[in-house]
Amino acid sequence: MYRVIVANKAVLTPWEVSGKIDYDNLVEKFGTKPLNHGDLDRMRDHSGRFHFMLRRGVFYSHRDLDKILDHHDRGGKFSLYTGRGPSGPVHLGHLIPWIFTKHLQDTYGSKLLFQFTDDEKMLLKEDLDETITSHWVHENALDLMALGFDPDNTEFIVNMRHASKLFPIALKVAKKITGSTMRAVFGFNDQSNLGMMFFPSMQAAPCFLESERAGEPVPCLIPAGIDQDPYWRLTRDIARKLGYPKPAQIHGRMLPGLTGTAKMSSSQPETAIYMTDVPELVEKKIEYANVPEDRANCPLFQFHYFLLTESDEEVEWIRDACTSNRRSCLECKIELAEDVNRFLKAHRRRKKLIGKSVETMLE
Ligand code: TRP
Repeated sequence: MYRVIVANKAVLTPWEVSGKIDYDNLVEKFGTKPLNHGDLDRMRDHSGRFHFMLRRGVFYSHRDLDKILDHHDRGGKFSLYTGRGPSGPVHLGHLIPWIFTKHLQDTYGSKLLFQFTDDEKMLLKEDLDETITSHWVHENALDLMALGFDPDNTEFIVNMRHASKLFPIALKVAKKITGSTMRAVFGFNDQSNLGMMFFPSMQAAPCFLESERAGEPVPCLIPAGIDQDPYWRLTRDIARKLGYPKPAQIHGRMLPGLTGTAKMSSSQPETAIYMTDVPELVEKKIEYANVPEDRANCPLFQFHYFLLTESDEEVEWIRDACTSNRRSCLECKIELAEDVNRFLKAHRRRKKLIGKSVETMLE
């Protein structure tokens, strides 16, 4: 239904990621910039530490990040914006941009706008209604807050509930975008439903919300997987016309699936480890994961690299033990399952502690 970006049989759109994604090629194709040493040094200086996702190039590309950092150096404030389509439980892949966003909130003291696109999911999937998405909004919000975001500096925008916060801006955005641009950027066609054609204006609106509220430009930085980029290209194109600053982005790579797919994805549940998976299920999923002969490309190693093992020494030890055959796949899998279960257990404990306070945030 939607136009897809195809390179070496790979597909990358906001709704579908498959094949082998060439991340360097995306930088060229999308016209973004790789993070360079200067950008990395500045972020390290600002935070006092070199976040492992930056060190390892998990976050690797950007648009106008340098302008955001300049603005910060001049004493200016900027907002952070990211989001989630609440159609099911959160898996490990979702946490990658969120953990990094939390690091940015800690470093820059920025307000985070977090959007739940229940409207998008409802429009996209046959069997979803507001009762179901509301359940996932609540659950997913707990998962987000369990990562330690500052509740006083985090605002949830649940599109169906809070449409009126966004609608006036979304209309201004929609007025500047033609149907043919929508087709070109997202691949919509005459069969696409009308709601989906309008929806990108709702995803664009939070980029401008803090400027609208302040009555002066408040720049916005979006940490997200690079698959969301089409929205931001579109939004940046019309920002100036509406008198708002262009939203800046910092793009992450996507955690591969257990089976070696390009992205852990709920549309292929066998690729994913959910925050709700019980320990025995995690063990099974990892044990049965098909690892490739070519050990250097093992998706299971990426779980350490992207998420679980912050120490560079440890992560290199794990890589080396594998590629030099010092450790069998089975041993490696057993240890990974233990690490994942430890991670999930700590997460669930923090989630419990948050309990009801998240309800007030979602009102
Ligand atoms: N469309 C995104 C999804 O389906 C959710 C989303 C909304 C988002 N606003 C965002 C993601 C901003 C990243 C940044 O997951």
